[in-house]
Amino acid sequence: MTAETQHRWTHKHLLGLEQLSADDIRFVLDTADSFKEVSTRSIKKVPALRGRVVVNAFFEDSTRTRTSFTLAAQRLSADILDFSGKGSSVSKGETLIDTARNIEAMGVDIIVIRHSAAGAALQLAKTMKCSVVNAGDGAHEHPTQGLLDLYTMRERFGRIEGLKVAIVGDIANSRVARSNLFALTKLGAEVILVGPPTLLPKSFEQLGARVVHNFDEIVGEVDVINMLRVQFERIKSSQFPSVREFTRFFGLTWDRFQRCKKDVFVMHPGPMNRGIEISSDIADGPQSGILQQVTNGLAIRMAVLFLVGQVLV
Ligand code: CP
Repeated sequence: MTAETQHRWTHKHLLGLEQLSADDIRFVLDTADSFKEVSTRSIKKVPALRGRVVVNAFFEDSTRTRTSFTLAAQRLSADILDFSGKGSSVSKGETLIDTARNIEAMGVDIIVIRHSAAGAALQLAKTMKCSVVNAGDGAHEHPTQGLLDLYTMRERFGRIEGLKVAIVGDIANSRVARSNLFALTKLGAEVILVGPPTLLPKSFEQLGARVVHNFDEIVGEVDVINMLRVQFERIKSSQFPSVREFTRFFGLTWDRFQRCKKDVFVMHPGPMNRGIEISSDIADGPQSGILQQVTNGLAIRMAVLFLVGQVLV
């Protein structure tokens, strides 16, 4: 019997990976395996969510997450509504909760929300009857990104346990770093967070990571390097001396890449600042898993919508 058949999924919402157990995380990855196979068929659709309504409610910009949730819902045969904060009655002063409750009143089963405020998804989950899936809330969590990152690492190495994973750059502002950290440590990987002290507080050690301020100290010992986007829109000028300095000390440059393990796996959640946190030669090279991450994001989001949809009455 596989882990997939043994485990019982009980979560109506997906708000973060901090709340999931190691078995929950493995179960999502195993479920995504089945859905990845669906995407190889000539008819790439299953009736798993037929009759259900999924709303994408995005109050922040997105390319990958938004489109893959849309496609995931379509492939599960759900009806999908795409809602943007921009151009909505939010501009007239309507609150997030009122907006969401009005959308829910149209008979929605699952709301996928991206918002700049940490805790926005939790607030909705507390007040709404439908399932809530967090598609990124401020600097808090981006659970489906964390899941697709782990899925992509597992696909590459056949395991998560024992991997040494460096997450590099603007850690303090990164919901991706937090979701990866929670999930990777639960599944037995070693996580090394790398960044300047202004963007990587020592307090991250309390979450189970090794905190390093010198990228060169660890570059040759890790199996995976997950480069984060420098979030210029969230950074205060005092945290960041100059782009050139950042690239020199914390960028994945060609020179630094030569000192990595031969089979190092390079990841980036996107969107990339090419030439700042990562060199284009590496991002587009054979050791990059960046587009594979995007492909796997679809299977992960199908799995997540399917699983929370099963818990709904
Ligand atoms: N990785 C990620 O969340 O990308 P988007 O902002 O394009 O969704």
